[in-house]
Amino acid sequence: MTSAPASSPRCALVTGASAGIGAATVRALRAQGWDVVAVARREGRLMALAEETGCAWVAGDVSNDEDVAAIAASAQANGVDTLINIAGGARGNQHIAEAHTDDWEWMFRSNVMGTMKLTRALLPQLRSAQGGGTVLNLTSTAALVSYEGGGGYNAAKSAQRAMTQALRLEEAEHNVRVIEILPGLVKSDEFALRRLGSQEAADAVYAGVEEPLSSEDVADVVRYAVSLPHHVNLDEIVLRPVAQAANHKLLRKQ
Ligand SMILES: NC(=O)c1ccc[n+]([C@@H]2O[C@H](COP(=O)([O-])OP(=O)(O)OC[C@H]3O[C@@H](n4cnc5c(N)ncnc54)[C@H](OP(=O)(O)O)[C@@H]3O)[C@@H](O)[C@H]2O)c1
Repeated sequence: MTSAPASSPRCALVTGASAGIGAATVRALRAQGWDVVAVARREGRLMALAEETGCAWVAGDVSNDEDVAAIAASAQANGVDTLINIAGGARGNQHIAEAHTDDWEWMFRSNVMGTMKLTRALLPQLRSAQGGGTVLNLTSTAALVSYEGGGGYNAAKSAQRAMTQALRLEEAEHNVRVIEILPGLVKSDEFALRRLGSQEAADAVYAGVEEPLSSEDVADVVRYAVSLPHHVNLDEIVLRPVAQAANHKLLRKQ
């Protein structure tokens, strides 16, 4: 996949950058000459990524007000014109009858409140970015179709998707482009492990699936979408592995 190079260096702030899709996105953007500010809570991982790619970084929790203020200050200092909200994930697979309140609260804090707080904090700067600002929210096909045991994640990603659609309407007159990317099954570093709590359960998610999407596959689509000329808005992109023809149809080899 190719896209036109930006006419001048662009600067993206990428959340969820300590692992998986976020870390791969930092690498993909740096490889194309973007300046990048990487954000996540685990400082050691961000330092290693900075050493590897030359990105800037700031450690913080996107759902915490003080951390968001520090992240916004770093975005200002670095001249960020593109906000890429990737931080988030899933916790638990219980039916709603047995839902764990802590898991639901975590999913809403990281996916929904984190995206809102960081977007709200950076919008003044994105509105004044030369050539226009961009917000890209990574939601999920879990926002399109609900499934048994997915209630909390379906609800959180649907809320993040709804917020993204409102934002696109609200920010058009400020020339802020709003992109949503909705991946299906991605074999990333920690997503399934964090959701299910054991390596055995995490491995079962991908068992027999010949080629799930990789973090790099998703990062390449993110990089492409934000690198297009500003007036071109890929406003929503669904991507899945070929083996996942739909949410309910996942091919597994025995
Ligand atoms: N894997 C999939 O199948 C899939 C499919 C569709 C969509 N997605 C979405 O893609 C995004 C990335 O997922 P992934 O698969 O790359 O998962 P991952 O490997 O578990 O990475 C999640 C990242 O989010 C960061 N993070 C989580 N909560 C945070 C918070 N409150 N503040 C700051 N950073 C936070 C984590 O860093 P720290 O722990 O260091 O803070 C980590 O860098 C998520 O939004 C997920 O819902 C994943």
